[in-house]
Amino acid sequence: MKRSIIKSTGMFVPNNIITNHDLEKILDTSDEWIKQRTGIEQRYWIDQEGETGASDLGFEASKTALESAGWKPEDLDFIIFATLSPDIMFPGCGCLLAAKLGLNSTPALDIRQQCTGFLYGLTTADAYIKTGLANKILIVGSEVHSSGLDKSTRGRDVTVIFGDGAAAVCLEGVETDETAGVLASCLHADGNFAQALMTELPASKFPLRFPPGVPIDDPRYYPVMDGPAIFKKAVRMLPKVIIESLKKAQINLDEIDLIVPHQANMRINQALGQFLKLDDNKIFHNIQKYGNTTAASIPLALHEAIEQGRIGKSGDIVIFTGLGAGLTWGSVIYKFL
Ligand code: ACO
Repeated sequence: MKRSIIKSTGMFVPNNIITNHDLEKILDTSDEWIKQRTGIEQRYWIDQEGETGASDLGFEASKTALESAGWKPEDLDFIIFATLSPDIMFPGCGCLLAAKLGLNSTPALDIRQQCTGFLYGLTTADAYIKTGLANKILIVGSEVHSSGLDKSTRGRDVTVIFGDGAAAVCLEGVETDETAGVLASCLHADGNFAQALMTELPASKFPLRFPPGVPIDDPRYYPVMDGPAIFKKAVRMLPKVIIESLKKAQINLDEIDLIVPHQANMRINQALGQFLKLDDNKIFHNIQKYGNTTAASIPLALHEAIEQGRIGKSGDIVIFTGLGAGLTWGSVIYKFL
């Protein structure tokens, strides 16, 4: 049977490190507040004067992943690109990335599932491989948040948490009798909570995409979030969906080598560990360095976990999980071949 196997990973962040102290200079916040409430110490933002989009960061991450897989762009038979911050309204970043890779007919799909974009992407790629529709797939998560944040005190709850970055995974269908690859996948969405975390404008529901008379600094141009509501949802739903995926894969929690969660808030991931009664070293954290890079966050954490030797050996089992705007949430269990 064909199994969906991670062949390689890659990541890319822009040069500019923005520390919490840098943010103290532009809005009313403090290093202490940000570290204590979120665990974040710094994040990377693109050069605000340039014209760098999510597809540019995704391109850099993809080059690394392709190189370490030993694949040429022409080897790909499908590209999946997850982002909430596309370069332009349309066409999607998957097409833009394919062109940057020198391709002109490889199918490309964009996924707009925010923090769970990688989970939706990996699940879709796995289905494509298992049904024989594709065999060599590039999955990319990439965000340029910094050009769309409200960098005044009004937007401080969101602005301090978001970072720019990208990560890519080469996934390959491999014939094997081993139980390996994507073992189980559970995805969910509840649009009733869409307003708890969204950027409303520009919107097709308004003539010319904007409600009449809206000033240029209207908060609806920026991401707005009911942080405490999302926090409570995440702490409740993540353990639940992990247990659901364990049941589906028919494995026990103590067989898991590492949980690689979406990096939205260190406290959410610590609460997840407490609920599951797991030692903190079973949960991967890198939010300190990157903040919340949304669709890039899980593959970026995966890339670093492999680089640090925390996972990647044959037989290692990892759970990817996350909750974010939509609301969307999910869990994927993966076993290294
Ligand atoms: N600096 C200083 N003070 C701040 C800041 C800041 N950056 N942001 C908010 N505050 C203040 C608030 O104004 C409030 O002040 P008040 O008590 O005088 O009214 C106080 O801090 C507490 O605000 P809360 O919003 O209750 O703070 P909380 O502890 O909930 O932390 C946070 C906010 C970090 C956003 C948290 O709620 C959170 O992480 N929520 C979940 C985020 C998440 O998981 N999002 C989903 C993924 S993102 C995606 O899908 C795109």
